[in-house]
Amino acid sequence: MALNVHHVGIAVTDLDASIESYRSLLGATVEHRETVEDQGVEAASLQVGTSRIELLCPLGPDTPVGKFLAKRGPGLHHVAFEVADLPAELERLRADGVQLIDETPRRGLFGHQVAFVHPEATGGVLAEFVAR
Ligand code: CO
Repeated sequence: MALNVHHVGIAVTDLDASIESYRSLLGATVEHRETVEDQGVEAASLQVGTSRIELLCPLGPDTPVGKFLAKRGPGLHHVAFEVADLPAELERLRADGVQLIDETPRRGLFGHQVAFVHPEATGGVLAEFVAR
């Protein structure tokens, strides 16, 4: 079972401008910032009170987030749920017939173990599971 919402992922076209607008709008502070070449993304994790927003800026148009932006434009990309035991959670979802994008945990941004669940299983919103 999910323990809480770990973060909300938002696709952006300009990371610096987005950080600045979340900072001035919400008082958000940058927790981490990282370029992950093999995922084609520069990302920033922002702390908003006890909650977290993950801003995702593509390194090029031919990346997953680049394709998302071309199709949908900037905005909500995924919701991430924190779980205590990610392999057990994936096993439970698989047993329930839920369509997974990642069959096994992989390294996500900022060193987290993550797995994505297909949006068809979650009402059209891409869901990420993050190990505590
Ligand atoms: Co995420």
